Amino acid sequence: MHIFAHRGYSSKYPENTLAAFKAAAKLKITGVELDVHLTKDRKIVVIHDEKINRTSNGKGYVKDMTLEELRKFDFGSWFHPKFQGEKIPILAEVLDLFKDTHHKINIELKSDKFLYPGLEDLVLQEVDQFQLRDRVIISSFDHEAVKRMAELAPDIETAPLFSYSILNMKWYRTLFPANALHVAYRAVRRRPVLEALKVGIPIRVYTINDKEQAKMLLHLGVAGIITDCPEELYEVLKK
Ligand code: G3P
Ligand code: CA
Repeated sequence: MHIFAHRGYSSKYPENTLAAFKAAAKLKITGVELDVHLTKDRKIVVIHDEKINRTSNGKGYVKDMTLEELRKFDFGSWFHPKFQGEKIPILAEVLDLFKDTHHKINIELKSDKFLYPGLEDLVLQEVDQFQLRDRVIISSFDHEAVKRMAELAPDIETAPLFSYSILNMKWYRTLFPANALHVAYRAVRRRPVLEALKVGIPIRVYTINDKEQAKMLLHLGVAGIITDCPEELYEVLKK
């Protein structure tokens, strides 16, 4: 089963920082997952929340700050003092880190939080700069953004995200030809997901940090999990 390190190796390192991605890059897992937002000066930064409050010593919305302003904040100390000095990464830095590894890079476009016009084009430019189309997977809860990326670059793998709202949707036949579906654990046993599994659509499940859940999903036939604990679950699942 494929293992993706959620926001990098985020159980042991501050999420979505170069420290977390460097640690994940040393593991024999399939890949990493990361989140992107756009700054005021339209730079792609790697961060989960639309605000920097939770994961830095600063405050405010990413969209209201320039990259230079964001780089002044510390994105490591909130997690542990030993990570003091970690800066918010730009997408290019993370892609550079993985350009010579085997890992897949699952980029989540956080455009469900705010409209980021042109985000797909900007992401594609950076992916192309590092010639990584064959190792990138584009996800988003904003399915229009995933669709736009699929139209711009049909050769890039797409995997729309679904939380519980999956229940009432005939998504996997009607939306667009996505390569895989990324679903929340609580949605896994719902009929649409089980039907998708039955017809062979790859399903990856987030966010799995529990060994028993991981083993159950392996038996259910899911293609992969997205986890904060990639090292631990790799050891469990390889047995
Ligand atoms: O990859 C799925 C997962 O990352 C989606 O949820 O909130 O952690 O970005 P979230
Ligand atoms: Ca994410």
